Amino acid sequence: MTKIAFFSTQAYDRHFFENSSDKHRFEFFETRLKSNTVQLADGFDGVCVFVNDKVDADILKRLSEMDVGLVALRCAGFNNVDLKAAEKHNVRIMRVPAYSPEAVAEHAVALILTLARKTHKAYNRIRDGNFSLDRLTGFNVNGKTIGVIGTGKIGQAFIRIAQGFGTEIIAFDKYPSKALTQKGVHYMALDDVLANSDILSLHCPLTPETSHLINQETLGKMKKGAMLINTSRGKLVDTSAVIESLKQNHLGSLGIDVYEQEEKLFFRDLSEVIIRDDQIARLMLFPNVLITAHQGFFTKESLEEITRITLKNFDDYENKQETENEVSCKLLKEC
Ligand code: NAI
Repeated sequence: MTKIAFFSTQAYDRHFFENSSDKHRFEFFETRLKSNTVQLADGFDGVCVFVNDKVDADILKRLSEMDVGLVALRCAGFNNVDLKAAEKHNVRIMRVPAYSPEAVAEHAVALILTLARKTHKAYNRIRDGNFSLDRLTGFNVNGKTIGVIGTGKIGQAFIRIAQGFGTEIIAFDKYPSKALTQKGVHYMALDDVLANSDILSLHCPLTPETSHLINQETLGKMKKGAMLINTSRGKLVDTSAVIESLKQNHLGSLGIDVYEQEEKLFFRDLSEVIIRDDQIARLMLFPNVLITAHQGFFTKESLEEITRITLKNFDDYENKQETENEVSCKLLKEC
C-alpha cells in the first residue's frame, strides 16, 4: 500500500480521490508544498501536487531524506519541478500529460468570444435592468487571422475549433506539424505570427526559452488592437509590459486564465481580503481585460481523467513500472 500526501487540495480533489482506491492510503493537505510544509510528507511514500506547488532542489532533497520517492503532478505542465535535482535525489516525477486538451482549448475560445462580444458586460447590465446596447459593439471572429504559439495537444484542439469559425490560422512552434500544415495551418516565424494576428493564443509550455515570450518588444510587434489570450502559464507574459501596452491602447484586449503571480491568489476566496498585488488589481480595472483563475482544466471530464491517470501513476510507482507519464532529464533529453 502506497501512502500519498496530497498538497494544495481543494474540495473537488477530495471528492474525486477520497475512496477512489483501496490499494493506496491518502491524506489531504490544503497547504501548498513549500519549505515550511514539506515536513508534512514525512512517513509517506509519495506526494501529489498541483500547478503552484514548488518542487525545487531544496524540497526534493528534503523529500528524499524522508524516503519520499514520488512526486505525482495532478497536471500536465511540470515547469515547477527541478528535474535535475529530482534525478540527483532519486525522486520519480510523474504527471498527467493529457487529460482533456479540449477543456483548455474550449476555455480559450470562451475567453475570445466573451471579449469579442462583451457578453460579460451584457450579463451584468441586464441583471441591473439595463437593456441598452450602448458600447457593446463587438467584432466577428469569422474572417480574422488567429495566431497560435505552440501547436501541441491543446494548440491543436484550439485550432480545430477556431477553424470552424472560418478563420485563417497562422502558427509558431519549435517543431511544426506536417499534419497541421496539410489542414491549412501556416507556420511562420514568431515575428510574422505576432505581426499578422488579430487574435494571438498561447499554448506552449513555460520553459527558460518561453519565459516572458510576450514582453515590451514582442508586444510592439503585434498589430494595434489585437487580442492576446493566455491559458498556458502566467510567466509566458510580462505583466508590466502588458499593462503598459493596454494603457497605450496598443493591445486591444486581454484574456488570461493564468497569471504571473497566481500562486499568491488563485484557488482561494480572497473576497474579504485586501489584495496587495497591484498588478492584478490594475488588470481587474481594464474594461477590455477578462481574467479567470486557472479554470481551463476544470471540467467534470478532465477531473475524472486526472483522477484515473494519477491513480495509475501511483500503481506504476508501487509496481516499479516504467510509464510514459514519467518526466525526467533522461527521457526529455534535456537539462
Ligand atoms: P504539448 O506538450 O502537447 O504541446 C506544447 C507545444 O509547444 C509543442 O508542440 C511544443 O513543440 C511547443 N513548444 C515548446 N517550446 C516552444 C517554444 N519555445 N516556442 C514555440 N512552441 C514551443 O502541451 P499541451 O498539452 O498542449 O499543453 C500546453 C500548455 O498548456 C502546458 O505546458 C501548460 O502550461 C498549459 N496548460 C494549462 C491548463 C489550464 O488549466 N489553463 C491545463 C493544462 C495545460
